[in-house]
Amino acid sequence: MMKSKGLLATLALAAGMTLQAQTNEFVIQTKKLGAEIQPTMYGLFFEDINYAADGGLYAELVKNRSFEFPQALMGWNSFGKVEVRDDGPFERNPHYVRLRPAKHPHMQTGLDNRGYFGIGLKKDAEYRFSVWARIPDGGNAGKIRVELVDTKSMGESQVYTSQEVTIGSKEWKKYQVVLKAPVTDPKATLRVFLTSPATVDLEHVSLFPVDTWKGHENGLRKDIVQALADLKPGIFRFPGGCIVEGTTLDDRYQWKNTVGPVENRPLNLNRWQYTFTHRFYPDYYQSYGLGFFEFFQLSEEIGAEPLPILNCGLACQYQNAADDETSRVVLDQLDPYIQDALDLIEFANGDVTSKWGKVRADMGHPAPFNLKFIGIGNEQWGSVYPERLELFVKAIRKAYPDIQIVGSSGPNSEGADFDYLWPEMKRIKVDLVDEHFYRPESWFLAQGARYDQYDRKGPKVFAGEYACHGQGKKWNHFHASLLEAAFMTGLERNADIVHMATYAPLLAHVEGWQWRPDLIWYDNLQTVRTASYYVQQLYAKYKGTNVLSLTMDKQPVTGAEGQNGLFASAVYDAGTGEYIVKVANTSDQKQTLNLKFEGMKKKEALTSGRCITLASANPDADNTIEHPNTIAPKETTMQVSGQAVQVELAPNTFAVYILKK
Ligand code: AHR
Repeated sequence: MMKSKGLLATLALAAGMTLQAQTNEFVIQTKKLGAEIQPTMYGLFFEDINYAADGGLYAELVKNRSFEFPQALMGWNSFGKVEVRDDGPFERNPHYVRLRPAKHPHMQTGLDNRGYFGIGLKKDAEYRFSVWARIPDGGNAGKIRVELVDTKSMGESQVYTSQEVTIGSKEWKKYQVVLKAPVTDPKATLRVFLTSPATVDLEHVSLFPVDTWKGHENGLRKDIVQALADLKPGIFRFPGGCIVEGTTLDDRYQWKNTVGPVENRPLNLNRWQYTFTHRFYPDYYQSYGLGFFEFFQLSEEIGAEPLPILNCGLACQYQNAADDETSRVVLDQLDPYIQDALDLIEFANGDVTSKWGKVRADMGHPAPFNLKFIGIGNEQWGSVYPERLELFVKAIRKAYPDIQIVGSSGPNSEGADFDYLWPEMKRIKVDLVDEHFYRPESWFLAQGARYDQYDRKGPKVFAGEYACHGQGKKWNHFHASLLEAAFMTGLERNADIVHMATYAPLLAHVEGWQWRPDLIWYDNLQTVRTASYYVQQLYAKYKGTNVLSLTMDKQPVTGAEGQNGLFASAVYDAGTGEYIVKVANTSDQKQTLNLKFEGMKKKEALTSGRCITLASANPDADNTIEHPNTIAPKETTMQVSGQAVQVELAPNTFAVYILKK
């Protein structure tokens, strides 16, 4: 493609190609391909925190649809004669409501549901209402009206749209109708009420957008999944996080409760309801509508390897005293927990004739999900953890020798627990060790060489939860993301030992968060990709296939003394034939870089290049619902020739240079 001279000059400047006296000489060795970068290198950490499942990724719009919350009508406003009963058709969710005609024909009986911070409606979109119902007395058919209403009463009428449903059977049956929203409203209400004199029983009252991700019923919110898919994840950790552990063992995450028909998946507490009393959400529970089948299916659809994390026989160690015997399973009673892990592998991979493979097939996926990894335990510490983990590892190795097992190094990135657990993980011979670091700016700046000295003979590293937590109450601001990018050059340079990395947490509802920063924010209608999101995306999209050695003065570029606040790594992509150099300039100075590609044949030359930068004039800026695109990657073309390229990198900027020979 021909370009004018003026345009070339502009592009060259945009890509930072003017010459500077002081140059940082980066030498990239192209001849010897370094460690293979695992396809699982970058990925997703999902936990139902911040209304990530119900009220977030899971597209159900009705809260407490099965009336199983301890206060059975929580989330509902009832009017007229509504009675909660508990002998319903679903064994594990026995509650339902009985609607009797009000005392006068002009009066109404029914219920309103406000969803999660309101029910988000989009103009012209369709919503599938479904309900299990019966007329308990038999006789004449009962009628209910289903409405989407404007409780703010902004318009002429409160009613946006309505449909009548006739309940014609004495037996429980599922009924459904589709309603089309004539308006956009982020906070509408679902109203259901009797319109005939017959008594009607209602159970599992549900409303989903028809347009879910891949059109699945019981589906996921399309815009949020799209944001996940656009991250090009290679690994997908689920379901957490502390939620795996439970405050007590009774409310730990039990995967078997999350599969099979949704109507019969029992409700569980969500520990994030009450963990932070300054962000207390009494109506935050886990419906398990988004369970292990949906997780495996989604992993497959977005091309990520699933990584389930299971309870190891310990309830949350933060929330229980070390000597509280009730918060841990004694070793000789651990079998059911170990069996859960073995059964999960069978659910994912087993033949359709196996017990759990059949459950998967009955749910619509006869082919195996090809699970390769499993994690046992989350943030555990002390000898109580390896004692239990060992028993899991033994049993899993015996039954499934090819499954890779992830153990934990505890909640801290260093210190006594970490120093105790890493050798234990080596002794037990897990395949990967999960490390967590929610740390301030100074930590990220100091950790560029973290993995350089790790033992190459032991387990690999899974940086399973991390994020830069800015000091001074800054959250998801650009500067934090820049330091994450800087730190991640060290993950990439050490891809021989670091096999997986997942930022955490992943999702947060702007009205229902408990923890921040988070990677993706949303309200009921829109999503916001943070600056950290774009860092993750750039790494995953340009992860390459092999590490290349990149040095300055023969040293790796890790932000060390004398390296001008620079962090850098380089990879080769065998699929595209590109050299990819990632550089974070964490200094307040513009830096001139000379990217020198050694090892190319004499007659070979760089022929084309692109530069993608992530920057912000204001380090405290972030992306918000109101201004979602304040910070976003910008791509420019580079004019290149020969075997070196000189670029100018603006202060506080993350750049990805993609060069072809
Ligand atoms: O990501 C939020 C929480 O942080 C996780 O649940 C836990 O593992 C960590 O402490």
